[in-house]
Amino acid sequence: MKNIVLIGFMGVGKGTLARAMAGKTDIYAIDTDDLIESLTNKKIKKIFKKKGEAYFRALEQKTADWLAKNVQNSIISTGGGFYKVKNLKDIGTVVYLQADFDWIYDRITKSKNAKKKIKKRPLFKSYEDAKRLYESRVPEYEKAADVIVNVENKSTEELVEEVLEKVKASQSSS
Ligand code: S3P
Repeated sequence: MKNIVLIGFMGVGKGTLARAMAGKTDIYAIDTDDLIESLTNKKIKKIFKKKGEAYFRALEQKTADWLAKNVQNSIISTGGGFYKVKNLKDIGTVVYLQADFDWIYDRITKSKNAKKKIKKRPLFKSYEDAKRLYESRVPEYEKAADVIVNVENKSTEELVEEVLEKVKASQSSS
């Protein structure tokens, strides 16, 4: 199987879904932010603060190159800006997890760990800033995707089934 690459805006649930898919399929789930943190031994927030966004994006590209070369048969969740890497399609079948901005905003700000979730995301500042970023990215996520799945108000179990089904259809038609 080709890798499955989950893309989408911060807080849409990429990591949660990747781990649920792993539990269901016995396929490993890995996360690009985790790979970057383990490579640098630094938290994403710290990397942004000390070295800036451009440096972080270069680390994402380095991670994309490593994944394309070394990783198969895996489910890969990504940071919200990872779709910008130049070889995204070489890594696997790209699934865009889509939701309205207000749904995502509520998911983050009304969660149990809201403070922690906001604090660890340097680009999720005010409602207005995050919404502007979201709106500028939506067309790019759509362009990058092989498969689009709307995640609003669906259980994780439902989403696991839907993503696997759509990926299977996409991989068998390509
Ligand atoms: C980012 C999203 C974050 C993380 C970094 C930058 C972005 O990941 O990679 O803070 O540019 O959207 P999540 O999508 O998991 O929050």
